[in-house]
Amino acid sequence: MPAQAAHYDVIVIGAGAAGLMTALTAGQRDKRVLLLEHTDTIGAKILISGGGRCNFTNLDIRPERFLSANPHFARSALARYDQHAFISLVRKHHIAFYEKTLGQLFCEGNGSARRIVEMLLQECQAGNVEIQRSVTVQDVSKREHFVLQTTGGALSADAVVIASGGLSIPKLGATDFAYRIAKRFNVPIVAPRPALVPLTFDPEDRAWMSALAGVSVEASVSAGATAFREGLLFTHRGLSGPSILQVSSYWRQGEAIAVDFWPSGGLEARLTDAKRAHPKAQAKAAFAGLWPERLATSLAQKLLPEARLADMKDKDLLAVGTALRTFKLTPAGDEGYAKAEVTAGGVDTNALDQKSMAVKALPGLHFVGEAVDVTGWLGGYNFQWAWASGRAAGLAV
Ligand code: FDA
Repeated sequence: MPAQAAHYDVIVIGAGAAGLMTALTAGQRDKRVLLLEHTDTIGAKILISGGGRCNFTNLDIRPERFLSANPHFARSALARYDQHAFISLVRKHHIAFYEKTLGQLFCEGNGSARRIVEMLLQECQAGNVEIQRSVTVQDVSKREHFVLQTTGGALSADAVVIASGGLSIPKLGATDFAYRIAKRFNVPIVAPRPALVPLTFDPEDRAWMSALAGVSVEASVSAGATAFREGLLFTHRGLSGPSILQVSSYWRQGEAIAVDFWPSGGLEARLTDAKRAHPKAQAKAAFAGLWPERLATSLAQKLLPEARLADMKDKDLLAVGTALRTFKLTPAGDEGYAKAEVTAGGVDTNALDQKSMAVKALPGLHFVGEAVDVTGWLGGYNFQWAWASGRAAGLAV
């Protein structure tokens, strides 16, 4: 260790949700903690999350709502620091919040996400955490201690926590730093991929989808056996909205997704009722009022003949109903890391200890948050993973 290198008990790299939670937890245990951030903004993703209101957790956190090559890994940390623990912290700081939908808790008021960052910074201050911004770590090596070469000089620490996140939204500071450090210390990685991301389509599908850009409906969208019933939004490039973002985490290149445009059931009866009520009407009248007009017209062009309802057999109308509930589409791809809310994959959890987030083969080196191969559903799950994994590491360092 160079004689001039400042020494810390713990250096945390990345001042996002997971890094802040790690740092404040370790600091409040009287550890000497340095938190390093390479941009000039603390908690950049927290600030923009949930449209500026930060969906900071979910009332219904369950381990099966997280994707990982090792689905049991997240259980321990999530159980030891659960949503109620974080809600208590939010209450302690008198931050008003509300449940928007499906258990999702948001702060009250425009721009209120900054209250979460202020809260975490106050807790860091209570733990005497030193924070340095605009410092880039160039190299980490392990000698007697961990030694870091940074743009601010050399540093050393007994423990290093990598909280530098995944690849999503490079313009907010995302880097592949965690994966580089993992490789450097022979820690395996599950191939990263964009998740919670809008899906794109080939020109033929894109043509009718982009004509519907801005139209939003409730739908149930499935990839394989996993289905999400939430909003679906047509865009100029394809499909987005919560149901699509959710399913994107499960979708794999080359596979089809299935859209149920009438998830509340009873569509077939509505179509045959429309025939009885208006037999002389054109077939497309059967769709009127079921969806926004532009979508109803587009679906009718795809699925209905130029005929009167009276001229359609009931069994043909029933088949149209089935087609609308099992509408298959094959995405061409996704909108990539520039638009992905999270990165799936990451540091292989088989290499980590689930209680401390430490590399089993190299105690003292920890990975937390989105850098790790644990990815939550949309709706506060990813922040809860950041809090829980950060807490686990902060208690262990
Ligand atoms: P995060 O990415 O937050 O932090 C990593 C930090 O490390 C960054 O500050 C980065 O600059 C820094 N860094 C990177 N490389 C570095 C290096 N080499 N040296 C030093 N620092 C480095 N989730 C949720 O639960 N509810 C929500 O409402 C939302 N909303 C949302 C909106 C949008 C637009 C996005 C993009 C994402 C969300 N998310 C979300 C997901 C959530 O933001 C995400 O899962 C967490 O922020 C992950 O926290 P981490 O601390 O692991 O990484």
